Amino acid sequence: MKTCSEFRSRLPIIPSARLAFCAALLLSAVSPFAGCRLPGKPGEGPEVPRPEQITNFDTLYGSNCAGCHGVNGQNGSAMNLANPVYQGIVDDATLRDVIAGGEAGTLMPAFGAKQGGTLTDAQIDAIVTGMRARWNKGNVLAGQNAPAYKAAYAGDAAKGEQAYQTTCAQCHEAAPQKPAQGGSIRDGSFLALVNEQTIRTTMIAGRPDLGMPDWRRLVKGRALTDDEITDVTAWLMAQKPATPGQPYPGSGQMGPARTPMPNPVKQ
Ligand code: HEC
Ligand code: HEC
Repeated sequence: MKTCSEFRSRLPIIPSARLAFCAALLLSAVSPFAGCRLPGKPGEGPEVPRPEQITNFDTLYGSNCAGCHGVNGQNGSAMNLANPVYQGIVDDATLRDVIAGGEAGTLMPAFGAKQGGTLTDAQIDAIVTGMRARWNKGNVLAGQNAPAYKAAYAGDAAKGEQAYQTTCAQCHEAAPQKPAQGGSIRDGSFLALVNEQTIRTTMIAGRPDLGMPDWRRLVKGRALTDDEITDVTAWLMAQKPATPGQPYPGSGQMGPARTPMPNPVKQ
């Protein structure tokens, strides 16, 4: 706060002006109309919480997850988190680990503060609790003999290719005059963005938001077995290109050598 004496040096030497200025300064301090906020003075409304203090699920999910996993956990480019079958196969510890540490080999970022992210343990817990409360529809998998979330062994790629042809191909391979209903999952650019767990989780839980059934309805008349899921995953992962997008189609072939243009100056 500047004092009258500080101002004095900057004011014209006319004493009456000096007096009037100091009086005005004094008045403004005690006046009931002195309501204007000084810079830096906190406003009266509710205090804005610091980002790490927010534990409201809708705020946390909306600003950190919805962009990839979709509003309400569905119709996003990444996993359908609101799928009750997904909620049925995954446990709390896995959810916390994935959110904190991310998913290696995919675009899932690490959110945990310890892993360089922005969310505290309490916020990650709030997200997990919120997801469970909204999207876990009780024990939907009771008596369904659901495959385990994690694969038990590495998988047999040769068997996986066979299972792919009889199961996945009907929707993921184009037929004459019929585009692949589910798009190509053998495409190198797709495989470059996913890991084993993405493929495994999708095969077990499906993408009901996008029209892919879960493991119980992928083959006619029976459920896909845990081994088939593991094997198909192994085969698909073996198709993952080392350098996605490369080589460009036709690269290395520059076409026939071109006849140089005649140089008009030399001729
Ligand atoms: C930049 C995009 C992106 C953001 C943001 C993001 N995710 Fe993900 N997440 C992914 C991708 C990609 C995967 C891998 C699976 C897939 O490809 O769908 C994934 C996987 C997951 C999985 C594991 C799925 C499985 O197979 O079990 C969970 C759980 C998850 N995310 C939760 C969250 C939560 C909660 C948030 C917000 C705090 C979040 N994600 C933010 C892209 C994202
Ligand atoms: C009845 C048809 C059908 C069958 C059978 C099927 N899928 Fe799908 N799948 C779909 C549809 C539809 C989508 C959603 C595609 C989209 O809109 O991105 C999908 C999506 C996927 C995705 C996620 C793609 C993405 O964009 O994230 C994966 C992975 C996948 N399927 C794997 C498989 C595997 C492996 C099999 C065989 C075990 C299989 N699917 C069998 C219909 C099917």
